[in-house]
Amino acid sequence: MSLKKYLLFFAFLFLCSCAEYSKNNKTFVNQTNLFSSKGFALIYSDQNYYDKIVNRKIDNTKLVVGHSKLKKNTLIKIINPTNSKVLNLKISKNLIYPKVFNIVISKKVATSLELDLENPYVEIFEQKLADLCEVKFSVGVNSGTDALFLALQVLGIGPGDEVITAPNSFVSTASAIKLSGAIPRFVDVDKSYNIDTNQIEKQITNKTKAIIPVHLTGRPANMSPIIELSEKYNISVIEDAAQAIMAKYNNKPVGSIGHIGCFSFHPLKTLNACGDAGAITTNNKLIYEKLLTLRNLGLKNRNNCESWSINSRLDSIQASILNVKIKFIKEWTYTRRKNAEIYNKSFSNMNEIILPPENENNYSVYHTYVIQVEKRDELKQYLDEHGIGTAIHYPIPIHLQKVANELGYKEGSFPNAEKQSKNIISLPIYPELKNDDLTYIIQTIKRFYL
Ligand SMILES: Cc1ncc(COP(=O)(O)O)c(C=O)c1O
Repeated sequence: MSLKKYLLFFAFLFLCSCAEYSKNNKTFVNQTNLFSSKGFALIYSDQNYYDKIVNRKIDNTKLVVGHSKLKKNTLIKIINPTNSKVLNLKISKNLIYPKVFNIVISKKVATSLELDLENPYVEIFEQKLADLCEVKFSVGVNSGTDALFLALQVLGIGPGDEVITAPNSFVSTASAIKLSGAIPRFVDVDKSYNIDTNQIEKQITNKTKAIIPVHLTGRPANMSPIIELSEKYNISVIEDAAQAIMAKYNNKPVGSIGHIGCFSFHPLKTLNACGDAGAITTNNKLIYEKLLTLRNLGLKNRNNCESWSINSRLDSIQASILNVKIKFIKEWTYTRRKNAEIYNKSFSNMNEIILPPENENNYSVYHTYVIQVEKRDELKQYLDEHGIGTAIHYPIPIHLQKVANELGYKEGSFPNAEKQSKNIISLPIYPELKNDDLTYIIQTIKRFYL
């Protein structure tokens, strides 16, 4: 197939997705849903994923959890982006929270379609996001990790500086700090899975330039004490809201409380693109204007570069997908919370399970529904055998990662984060779960502890 035909083919598939979406908006949560109801799932893949699949190098950690219910024998068709060959795979058992391959519309396709930053899709999305987060400005970037990195860059944080954050986040939070040249200083978490604000002050030194509270699992961190400390010590606050779009703390949306908010729209996030995407929010015009150049190699205009920076432009194709999905984020979030409520009620009298804490001043969005249990690994295995996919977010706290050895922490440094990492398990919580699915999951868990 010629390049032109190939591009038209992808454009056609993409438009089909949108058409399907407008017919039945309930199915467009994740691309797999579009086709799974018809007995097969069509996966757009980039070459990297395709090669991994073909070479069977994918292990469980590389398989990305999807959002639909795939029945036994569902055919998965994976398209090779360079020659359009189709690889057929079959699902070997019913999966409620299926392990399906990440769904990526190749960036090459987006670029080749000549969708660039001149295109209004990105700006439209930025405006919608700013409105949703109740901030003045938002800047689309390539990923949540880039959002964090650029937030540190724009604040001028780098070598010689320290940044405080939680050790139980996705490794990305600490990576961004390290890559900026600063040093991550961890503070243990409390029962909410978020940074223990009582322990922050003793970690503040004259090198501390920022605090990055992470709204883990979609639950807002305890922001008031953090803002107080930031004012007392003149420290910036960058919210890692990658998992928490639409969450509210004392009625304020996350991303609007600190100086800067960072979001991810990775395919597993509650608002997700068809590949990597992210954004930064702020009320500060100067920060906003600097970020517009920082995300684009520091280019002030086509020919003049004013600072060293990275290419972190948000793809227009991702922005256009997000523009569609953002209309439904309220409804999806509401359904996630309802699912959480059903779990909470059903498990309320089980001593074996510690439920996620609720706080009436907060609006958690349940990016993940995380319980703590004894015999966690056995339960996980049991649920897997019964077609229920679960995940551990995250099994190794960042300070115990090999790469973090140089930071000087050891086992025992953060007892809460460490204990939680051994007992936590995330249950399916996505909005398309039917009541029957929830009942099945709940009964299966109860049966395990009988
Ligand atoms: C808490 C947290 N921070 C940062 C990130 C990084 O986002 P991305 O994967 O878009 O780079 C993630 C994504 O998984 C996350 O969960």
